[in-house]
Amino acid sequence: MALLPIILAAGQGTRMNSSMPKVLHSIGGKPMLQHVIDSCEQLGVDKLGIIVGHGAEQVKQDAKVTNPRWVVQSEQKGTGHAVLQAVDLMSDEDVVIIAYGDVPLIKTNTLKKLSDKLEEASLVVLTTMLDKPFGYGRIIRDESSRIRYIVEEKDANVQEQAVTEVNTGFIAAKGANLKRWLSEIKPNNAQGEYYLTDCIAMAVEEGGLVESVICENPLEVEGVNNRIQQAKLERVFQKEQADNLMLQGVTLADPARVDIRGHLSAGKDVFIDINTIIIGEVTLGNNVVIQSGCMIENATIGDNTVIKANSVIESAQIGNSCEVGPFARVRPGTVLKKQAKVGNFVEVKKSTIGVGSKISHLSYIGDTTMGDEVNIGAGTITCNYDGANKFQTIIGDKVFVGSDTQLVAPVTISEGSTIGAGSTITKNTPANELTLSRSKQMTLKGWVKPVKHNKKDNK
Ligand code: UD1
Ligand code: CA
Repeated sequence: MALLPIILAAGQGTRMNSSMPKVLHSIGGKPMLQHVIDSCEQLGVDKLGIIVGHGAEQVKQDAKVTNPRWVVQSEQKGTGHAVLQAVDLMSDEDVVIIAYGDVPLIKTNTLKKLSDKLEEASLVVLTTMLDKPFGYGRIIRDESSRIRYIVEEKDANVQEQAVTEVNTGFIAAKGANLKRWLSEIKPNNAQGEYYLTDCIAMAVEEGGLVESVICENPLEVEGVNNRIQQAKLERVFQKEQADNLMLQGVTLADPARVDIRGHLSAGKDVFIDINTIIIGEVTLGNNVVIQSGCMIENATIGDNTVIKANSVIESAQIGNSCEVGPFARVRPGTVLKKQAKVGNFVEVKKSTIGVGSKISHLSYIGDTTMGDEVNIGAGTITCNYDGANKFQTIIGDKVFVGSDTQLVAPVTISEGSTIGAGSTITKNTPANELTLSRSKQMTLKGWVKPVKHNKKDNK
C-alpha cells in the first residue's frame, strides 16, 4: 500500500487581487502550498500529486517537492474534475488523500488519521463543526449517524442548511474506488460543476462504509480566499509557534508580537522582547536576550549574547557573550567571535571581528579581518570600495584606532598599532607604533568674528 496525496492548487484566487497565484501567498514566510506539501511529505510518501492551473509554471518553479507529479487542469470545472485529471497517478491499491493548496494549516497527524481510518472504510471524509456553516458542503447523516451524502450550500434545502457539520474537502480513498467514482460524476447541480463530494453518495450506494474524522480545530482546515483570511491564519500560525517556543523554555515578552518566518531554535532561558522578526534559519544559544524591534535572518547567536533594540542581523554568526546594538546592522558574512561588541549605528559587512574587539559607535567595517582585543574609535570607516572593486582591511590584535579614521583598503594595520584620531590611513602601519596623518593645527591671531549685517543696510 502506498500513500498518494494529491493537492488541489489550480484555482486563481480572484479575491486575493494579486498577480501571483493564490497558493504562493505566504503564511509565516512560506507559501501556503509549501505548508501543505511539507505536511504531506511528512507522512512518508514516495510521490506527491499536485494539480495546477492558474500560474502553473510559477507554482511549479516555486514549490519544493521531492518527488512531484504535476498535473495541469487548464480549465477549473470543479473539485471532482480536478481530481479526475490525476487518475493516471493512482494505482488501484494506493491510498489517495485529497488536500488543498489554500488550506495551509493542515497537520500531518490529521492526514494520517484519514489514511488510518480507511482501513475500515471505503471512503473517509475530514469534517469539522462550525457555528456558522454558510458556504460549506454539509455532511448529511442518517438516524444511525452514518454519512449518507454531502450537499453543497447552493444545492441544500433549509433542513440541510441547518446542519453544522461541514465538509473540509479532505478525503481519503483507495485509488481503484476513486477512479470508478470520478468517471461517473455529472455536473448536475446549481453550479454546473463536477463535485468531488458526489463520491460520498456513490460509495454509500455501492454499500460501502463512509467514515469521518472530525477535526477538533476548524482553523486547521480553514481555507484562504482573501488577504483578510490570510492574515487571520498568519496569526493562528504565529501563535502556534510562539506557544511551542514558550513550552521549550523561551520567554516572549508578548507572544503576539514576535513573528517567526522560518525556523527558530533556541537554548534555555532566552528572552525575546516585542516586535522581533525571525526569518529563515535562526539559532539562539542559552541566555540570549533579544531586545525589541530586531530583525534576525539566517543567523546563529551564541550563549549569553545580547542583541539590543532595533538591530538588523543577516546571515551572520555571532559568538558567545557578544553585545550588538542598539541600532546595529550586521550584514552577510559577518562573524563576531566571543565577547565582541558592535555598538550603535555600526554597520559590519563580510568581516570577522576578533575576541573581545569593540566597535562601539558610528562605524562602517567591511571586508575586514580584525584580530582580538581591538578598539575601533567612533566614526571609523573602512574605505573598502574604489567604485569598481572591493579591497580587504587587515587589523592585527590589540590595535587601537582613534576616532574618525579612514582606513583605505587594501591596508594592514599591524598588531599593537595605534592610529591617531582623524587619520586617513593609506599605507600599512608598523606594529606597536603610533601612526597618524593629520594636518597641523594652527591659530590665526587677531582674527575677527564676522558680524551680522543690519537688515536696513542690506536693502
Ligand atoms: C469545496 C467542497 C465543499 C467544502 C469546501 C471546503 C466540493 C464540491 N465542495 O467547496 O463541500 O465544504 O470545499 O472549503 O468539493 N479547485 C481546483 N480546481 C477546480 C475547482 C477547485 O483546483 O476545478 C481547488 C480550488 O482552488 C480550491 C479547492 O479546490 O483550493 C476548493 O474549491 P472551491 O471551488 O473553492 O470549492 P468550494 O466551493 O469551497
Ligand atoms: Ca472555496
